[in-house]
Amino acid sequence: MKRVLVLQGPNLNLLGRREPERYGAQTLAEITADLDRLAAALGVSLRHVQSNHEGALVDAVQAAGTDGFVGAVVNAAAYTHTSVALRDALLAVALPFVEVHLSNVHAREGFRHQSLLADVAVGVVTGFGAESYLLGLRGLVARLG
Ligand code: DQA
Repeated sequence: MKRVLVLQGPNLNLLGRREPERYGAQTLAEITADLDRLAAALGVSLRHVQSNHEGALVDAVQAAGTDGFVGAVVNAAAYTHTSVALRDALLAVALPFVEVHLSNVHAREGFRHQSLLADVAVGVVTGFGAESYLLGLRGLVARLG
């Protein structure tokens, strides 16, 4: 079965109680369960990694590369806007990925309008709350064929 990495960046472990008016009431565990249900229906399996540490996210991308993963759904959270290291890791292992965000980053502060990942992503889904992850996984799997 094809394996897909779901990478969750800093502060997403707090989902459910972190600015719920912006990020929604669903916890990371609930989003993870919804993703696993969709993955089963799509015939792929997921590895979920959340970290507040940039290097740990890089390690997870590298591990997915050596473990034969076919793609990734990535919400790098704040590191989206800053991390050359994460961009380089995704390029290094040539892992096709979809960038996702719960909020519409383009409707927020200017510093969130820049993504260091978007131009090397298969696509970007931003602003649909937890649904962004499900749309991202569907899009990725469709692209992978
Ligand atoms: C986010 C948007 C980022 O700008 C922010 O730093 C996050 C969450 C989102 O999912 O909307 O932590 O990636």
